[in-house]
Amino acid sequence: MLIGKPSDIVASEITPARLFRQRRELIKAAGLGTMMALGGWSSLGFAAQEKGQGRRPAIKSYKKTAYGQEEKLTSYRDITTYNNFYEFGTSKEQPAENAGQLKTSPWTISIEGEILKPRKLGIEELMKLAPLEERIYRMRCVEGWSMVIPWVGIPLARLVSLAQPTANAKFIEFISLADEAVMPGVRAPILDWPYLEALRLDEAMHELAILAVGLYGEVLPAQNGAPVRLVVPWKYGFKGGKSIVRIRFVEKMPQTTWMRAAPREYGFYANVNPSVDHPRWSQANERRIGSNLFTKRIPTLMFNGYAEQVAHLYSGMDLRKHF
Ligand code: MTE
Repeated sequence: MLIGKPSDIVASEITPARLFRQRRELIKAAGLGTMMALGGWSSLGFAAQEKGQGRRPAIKSYKKTAYGQEEKLTSYRDITTYNNFYEFGTSKEQPAENAGQLKTSPWTISIEGEILKPRKLGIEELMKLAPLEERIYRMRCVEGWSMVIPWVGIPLARLVSLAQPTANAKFIEFISLADEAVMPGVRAPILDWPYLEALRLDEAMHELAILAVGLYGEVLPAQNGAPVRLVVPWKYGFKGGKSIVRIRFVEKMPQTTWMRAAPREYGFYANVNPSVDHPRWSQANERRIGSNLFTKRIPTLMFNGYAEQVAHLYSGMDLRKHF
């Protein structure tokens, strides 16, 4: 498995051809998209939670905010047992079953690239960059399901401004841990590891974008991306890279993991948009996890309902082209 290679080279160029074909076949066979579309029903997760880490320690101090106060929260059990974290397996329950092995302390995040202040940040230091806040956000997965999650975290903008981007910094990459020793998925050519996601600099500076370290007032469970993951509520869930070890400021638009895996299906922006369908399924509505078979799907909103706050970031852009 090749890891840590430059992000702007397409996988087919550097991965041995046989491995690349094998990976493509695996992706096709697993029908990632189809798998995503079908989802599966929540509350599969009882067994997963029993095998997993159990409840995490409470976060001692964080402030409540007005974000999402009107929303009905998805249950802790559903949030922590119905996950996508392919490093721990491709089914919804595998992350909760397998991620307990992940050692999240000590944990260091390297802040690097086009900045004046490169540094290595311990997770405890990161948690002190700004007062921790609770943000209740609607989260919409590209597969067609959604949740409402009470995250605890810090504004990403705080970290960006402390890093002091140079004039060349246009994008930021978020690179996840890829450790074969504890991540069974990384031993297989499911995706081009490490998982890499990215934002444009102005998106990263937006007040809604956060680095989450907890949920429901407790330390983040490993399956949700402990100890720190990205949360960008107006974009499809796959933009939110988990268990981040590197944050790199770059000049050119990065090729993210999903763009490399299926460029016609996953674009850089991945803004929630009910009028731009995925090539293989509609994005017009969604199933709220926790609802039952008889509950109607709900309409998906432009920018996941955050249009008033974020639409200006994309003014003048053709969102069909920049999907
Ligand atoms: N980050 C990593 N490193 N690996 C992944 O497989 N899956 C993404 C995203 N972040 C993923 C990841 C996808 S497809 C989704 S929908 C969200 O995580 C799910 O986050 P949750 O399990 O906390 O709800």
